[in-house]
Amino acid sequence: MNSSMFLEMKSISKSYNGTKALQKVDFSAEGGEVHAIIGENGAGKSTLVKILTGAVLADEGSIYISGKECRIDSPLVAQRLRIRAVHQHFSLISHLTVTENILIGNLPVTSAGFCIDWQKAHTIAQNVLERIGFCDLDVKARVSSLSVSQKQMVEIAKAVSVSPKILVMDEPSAVLSQKELDRLFTVIRLLKDEKVLVLYISHRLNEIFQIADRVTVLKDGCFVGTIRVTETDKPALVKMMVGRAIEEIFPDKVSHFDVEALAVSCLGRADVFSDITFSIAKGEILGFYGLVGSGRTEMARCIFGADRLTSGKIVLKGKPVNTSSPRRAINEGISMLTEDRGHDGLILFLSIRDNVSLASLKKMTRLGVLNKRLQNSLVIDMIKKLRIKPENPDKPLRALSGGNQQKVVLAKWLMLETPILILDEPTRGVDVETKHGIYAIIRGLADSGAAVLLISSELPEVIGLSDRIIVMKEGQMVGEFSRWEASEEKLLACATGVTSGRGGI
Ligand SMILES: Nc1ncnc2c1ncn2[C@@H]1O[C@H](COP(=O)(O)OP(=O)(O)OP(=O)(O)O)[C@@H](O)[C@H]1O
Ligand SMILES: [Mg+2]
Repeated sequence: MNSSMFLEMKSISKSYNGTKALQKVDFSAEGGEVHAIIGENGAGKSTLVKILTGAVLADEGSIYISGKECRIDSPLVAQRLRIRAVHQHFSLISHLTVTENILIGNLPVTSAGFCIDWQKAHTIAQNVLERIGFCDLDVKARVSSLSVSQKQMVEIAKAVSVSPKILVMDEPSAVLSQKELDRLFTVIRLLKDEKVLVLYISHRLNEIFQIADRVTVLKDGCFVGTIRVTETDKPALVKMMVGRAIEEIFPDKVSHFDVEALAVSCLGRADVFSDITFSIAKGEILGFYGLVGSGRTEMARCIFGADRLTSGKIVLKGKPVNTSSPRRAINEGISMLTEDRGHDGLILFLSIRDNVSLASLKKMTRLGVLNKRLQNSLVIDMIKKLRIKPENPDKPLRALSGGNQQKVVLAKWLMLETPILILDEPTRGVDVETKHGIYAIIRGLADSGAAVLLISSELPEVIGLSDRIIVMKEGQMVGEFSRWEASEEKLLACATGVTSGRGGI
């Protein structure tokens, strides 16, 4: 007996004002499998799954579910077919509670009718969260008060709350760290056992080998191939995506750090982190590793003035400074690429040029007048370095794929060239080839004298790029490793509390 659901998308094409996002793509997958979709930034992955979820209309092509043709011309139709998605960018309503977001459209009413039964609603939401192992969230909290990874959990809960037949996950892991990722994989395995088809988009190839059964590769809007994970390996997949082999190489490191650029002592914020003391030298990349919730992002946000410190002192080039707002921090020479790109970094209706130059207009102004030629050449230089696509600086940001939008935010901060640069997950959502370009740029900035504070949840990235690594756990520094000492096992053991780090911290 083979009554399992299967999905076929045939000859799907889609253009956005002349940009061919998908060209005659054939795709098929079946219930009970985890099917990964991979490809470079702008390859068409999100477009393909958005066509399936009714968020985008295809120009051509047809979709069949278990042999029956379905016209999915709105999200509502997709929902009725029990197709749900966790999108690359959050779709939560931030002023509503966790419960309201999870049950939106399905809130229970009291037996007398008309009124929403809040007690029941909270219980249902709590049950959904518990079923997928995310029980430490307060269902009554407003979504705006949650961290990025907590928001991601709410997204996932919302999608699975309706027992989907097809569940699309567009880079669900980008904001999760190892522990949450393990939970996510447990949820996915659970869904798989229930014969759900899970479509999983990720730039992290390791994850594909951990969770997927088959993988489909897209390149420049075209179908390259579908292959069983057991019949391929990482280099082969990279070759399918990029068209040639690339090696995972990190730029060389320099080793002399004599001039202190930034020193902080006893930094603390009530109930979030405490006793943070470290310094970074000119030219040094200091990595911070820790699980989500370890306080790294919060600490960095306080140094940048985006949140308030409750104690401690920040010293730049030997002088204590006050960074009580991001504007002040920038004036003092500190810039920060934040983790939550959607909210903190982007203006979707403005062009790539405007977004990239937004923070650096001073540099492009001569005698009070914006030098457009200079602006253009600086922006085009960034577009080339970061392989931003499309290359036309006039394009509005909303026309860019998710990964390309992230590169624009990164470009904006790199353009400022402040002596101190805080980067929170700088390669999140970025494809393999561009990642190496970004590593080279970060190392280049350090080599030319910048001090870089790097927060990353990707172990190979922190280890490969940093000169020194501090590990945080539950708001405290729990270990420090030089680049020679650091290994994935050691950092993970330290971050999870299995062992303590070197140096008696
Ligand atoms: N709303 C839009 N308007 C115009 N062009 C768009 C729009 N959305 C996507 N595109 C273009 O379609 C192409 C495919 O984009 P898509 O978002 O599907 O890529 P992706 O594979 O998901 O990339 P990423 O890894 O960066 O998320 C890109 O060239 C992108 O610039
Ligand atoms: Mg995408």
